[in-house]
Amino acid sequence: MHHIQMCILVSVAMASLLYILHRGPSVSGVKESSLSGTPITFPSQSKKEWRNLFKPCASQRLFLPSLLPEVDSLLYVDTDVLFLSPISDVWEYFYKFNDSQLAALTPEHENENIGWYNRFARHPYYGRLGVNSGVMLMNLTRMRKFEWEKHILPIHNEYRLRITWGDQDIINILFYYHPDKLYIIPCEYNYRPDHCMYMSICTSSQKGIKIIHGNRGYFHSDKQPLFRIIYEAIEKYQVGTSPYQNFLLPLQSSLIQQNINDSNCGKISNQAVLIANNLFINEYL
Ligand SMILES: *[C@@H]1O[C@H](CO)[C@@H](O)[C@H](O)[C@H]1NC(C)=O
Ligand SMILES: *[C@@H]1O[C@H](CO)[C@@H](O)[C@H](O)[C@H]1NC(C)=O
Ligand SMILES: *[C@@H]1O[C@H](CO)[C@@H](O)[C@H](O)[C@H]1NC(C)=O
Repeated sequence: MHHIQMCILVSVAMASLLYILHRGPSVSGVKESSLSGTPITFPSQSKKEWRNLFKPCASQRLFLPSLLPEVDSLLYVDTDVLFLSPISDVWEYFYKFNDSQLAALTPEHENENIGWYNRFARHPYYGRLGVNSGVMLMNLTRMRKFEWEKHILPIHNEYRLRITWGDQDIINILFYYHPDKLYIIPCEYNYRPDHCMYMSICTSSQKGIKIIHGNRGYFHSDKQPLFRIIYEAIEKYQVGTSPYQNFLLPLQSSLIQQNINDSNCGKISNQAVLIANNLFINEYL
């Protein structure tokens, strides 16, 4: 069994949370062993511009390869991301990379009719529908070897007036030119309201939603109450107490409320509790 070192880097503005694992995780889960803080750093030229790209601090992750020279690999997640499965599940994808891949992301969309990049982007983007950057596996060793940051700066200079979603657009442009460097992970690892608000379009989530991303404020809104109810169930759970009694049972009873039944995302609520059902039912039996 490997010992896992996990650090969480939180920007002052709480723009992002980073789970940094120096080594591969054990199957049984992740043990938190240290917390460390590091100041936000950007290239000295055009510092203000980087800081204000999209949201304060969000573009910080583009410079992690040089900011964390001693770290081999990390999992980056946006602050509006919640885990519905052990972190080790997504970490396994590092071991599926071939020799050229240095990062992994999920598609931005699954369907041309409602995709954003294919309908609106004024710049190149990865693949058919682009990628979403809310959950990103980054092999920093490989990114440093590729000289990632030397590729980022000219892209920013050329496209900055045509980008809408800040660092996510820069990442899409980079992987448009270097598709061999990106591994695509399935949508259940970055499940967003777009996947269920009109119709259910993430087909692989039938095996369970692994990581849920309440982007555009959905954890704090009633537009699709599934997202808020999951957020609240995790928020109310006291670490150290029974996850069966104090997380799974309350979540299951919240999920059969009328407003969930009446919403489109409510139709996939079984997919949102599937992993928790499998993990925590044993504790009860
Ligand atoms: C990252 O890439 C380096 C260089 O290829 C490799 O040695 C290392 O094992 C990779 N890290 C992970 C977590 O796969
Ligand atoms: C790795 O996989 C990508 C995507 O399938 C491919 O474009 C690339 O050529 C592969 N690299 C190697 C070294 O096989
Ligand atoms: C919502 O749907 C579930 C499953 O079909 C059902 O058990 C529950 O009674 C419904 N809730 C309400 C308030 O009708």
